Amino acid sequence: MRLGVCYYPEHWPEAWCAEDAAAMAALGVSTVRIGEFAWSRIEPEPGRFEWGWLDRAIDTLARAGLEITLGTPTATPPKWLIDRHPDILAVDRRGRPRRFGSRRHYCFSSLTYRRETARIVEAVAQRYGAHPAVTAWQTDNEYGCHDTVESFSEDARVAFRAWLARRYGDVATLNAAWGNVFWSMEYRSFDEIDPPNETVTEANPAHRMDWRRFGSDEVVAYNRLQVEILRAHAPGRTILHNFMGSFTQFDHHAVGADLDVATWDSYPLGFLEQGHWPAETKARYLRQGHPDFTAFHHDLYRGVGRGRWWVMEQQPGPVNWAPYNPAPLPGMVRAWTWEAFAHGAEVVSYFRWRQAPFAQEQMHAGLHRPDRVEAPAAGEARQVAREIKTVPDDPTPRAPVALIFDYQAQWLFEIQPQGASYRHFELALDWYGALRRLGLDVDVVAPEADLSGYAAIVAPALPFVTDALAARLAQSNAVLLFGPRAGSKTARVTIPDALAPGALQALLPIKVTRVESLRPGVVEAAGAYGITRWLEHVEAGAGVQVHAKTPSGAPVWLQAGRAHYLAGWPCARLLDDALRAVAGAAGLSALDLPQDLRLRRRGRVRFAVNYGPQPIDLAAHVPGAAGFAYRLGGPHLEPAGVAAWVEA
Ligand code: GAL
Repeated sequence: MRLGVCYYPEHWPEAWCAEDAAAMAALGVSTVRIGEFAWSRIEPEPGRFEWGWLDRAIDTLARAGLEITLGTPTATPPKWLIDRHPDILAVDRRGRPRRFGSRRHYCFSSLTYRRETARIVEAVAQRYGAHPAVTAWQTDNEYGCHDTVESFSEDARVAFRAWLARRYGDVATLNAAWGNVFWSMEYRSFDEIDPPNETVTEANPAHRMDWRRFGSDEVVAYNRLQVEILRAHAPGRTILHNFMGSFTQFDHHAVGADLDVATWDSYPLGFLEQGHWPAETKARYLRQGHPDFTAFHHDLYRGVGRGRWWVMEQQPGPVNWAPYNPAPLPGMVRAWTWEAFAHGAEVVSYFRWRQAPFAQEQMHAGLHRPDRVEAPAAGEARQVAREIKTVPDDPTPRAPVALIFDYQAQWLFEIQPQGASYRHFELALDWYGALRRLGLDVDVVAPEADLSGYAAIVAPALPFVTDALAARLAQSNAVLLFGPRAGSKTARVTIPDALAPGALQALLPIKVTRVESLRPGVVEAAGAYGITRWLEHVEAGAGVQVHAKTPSGAPVWLQAGRAHYLAGWPCARLLDDALRAVAGAAGLSALDLPQDLRLRRRGRVRFAVNYGPQPIDLAAHVPGAAGFAYRLGGPHLEPAGVAAWVEA
């Protein structure tokens, strides 16, 4: 468990660097990320490199005992490069270039940019790959931020056609797979196929889905290009990327497979303000962030990093980019930091060391104010640095419960929501939050992940189920819970021959014969439960138990052996009862935590965090809490309070 910080030596007089480095070390920071936007200072003119300032910054930081994560500067190609090669720019849906003047102004498919990327990454990696203090490398910065995965450039069009040709072999196969006989959409060659934009009404969902898969593969390929160069010039160094919150435009598991560590940028208050939650929830957690949103991402990125993950950017105070930007509750920066460690983070790194008085992010807080005086978060970071020494730094074992999260499901439901309120990410978060209120630890995993060893596996939304995945689920021995729309599509985005849940019918002998989506405010009663947004009509085969149904007899909670199915968007009570039943059958003991309290285990240590506005008495909710040997806090948790104890 280590602390880090993001630092921009190019933003400050060089004379400040030594003092800043000493202050970082004194605060308890041990790792610093630099360089990720500095291309115009590294190469101010084509081919003329200015290394002096960066050499000195790295050496100064290293002399203070700090390790360095060096970012490749590809998120910000300089003006001269864009002017020479305008084909680097991404092109929007309407065919307009997305111009210079902010950041991320490039197209992942641009052949010129791939070449320029290789050139600059090679130059930086050659210079610093063997530097003993540069122990980690960050590729680019936040792939996809500002909606930059999709580009309708000429290079992207050509690459998409080639991608389709590789996937389908010949165009007749593509026509059949997509169902292009519909509306006379048939093509005579791959060269006739365009990206699915600016069509009169919706383009074929199969066409759109393949466009999304292609876009994701372009990000993977672009990242791999950088990783290969870094591995060649910086052997043995950690390679990572910093991902974002609630961002789903590419398959993060696929990018993560090429990295050593996944990191993400955690801004709990910004995400709360941007999120879908009702006004009461936003009011309650105004200065804390949503109690499950941040943790969900910790558990997601632990999976993306195959066990190894950091928070690269931790919110330290008000940010500048949400619709409203409140300050954290006193103590909350410390609580966020500890919660990340509780979920297994190796490093929590604050963004940023000092608030910039100029340019786009001048309203974004740092650990220091622009006048070089500490901001409140610095004291909280210092406190964590002291506390770290008192808590065992245990590894994070596999959780008892896996929640399957499939990026392709997200794309499908964006392309074909079938009901305006069917929001996949919200459904996944609801299920995750319900598990957390039972006090259960969760791994958020890809459908391709190793599913063995879990006591329970839940899949809130898993439309694509291959035979292989169905077989792995069957072999897992876990108790299973599927949400609506499971197994409802083939990979070609068609309805399975035997209807949903498709390949899962081997486990769950049921058939979904009709689906309907419901306007907000419509609640279909099912005994003590209610279904909103989405309701399926299910025929149950022999031996299937029905635990809840609507007055007209439509089953909404079904079970066959150790597999359960919810045939609609469940109310909180139905979800809670179903998850409790699953936990019970899986041999897991479930708690009943109040809405603001969250727990998490890291090896022998269990942590508790109070997200609410009122104090919490842990002993009222966690058996034995009055007598634990606490390493942090105690059984009385103030708002923003953290407790940690070693379990027997
Ligand atoms: C992240 C980004 C940083 C900075 C920060 C502000 O998205 O990586 O460069 O913009 O947000 O909160």
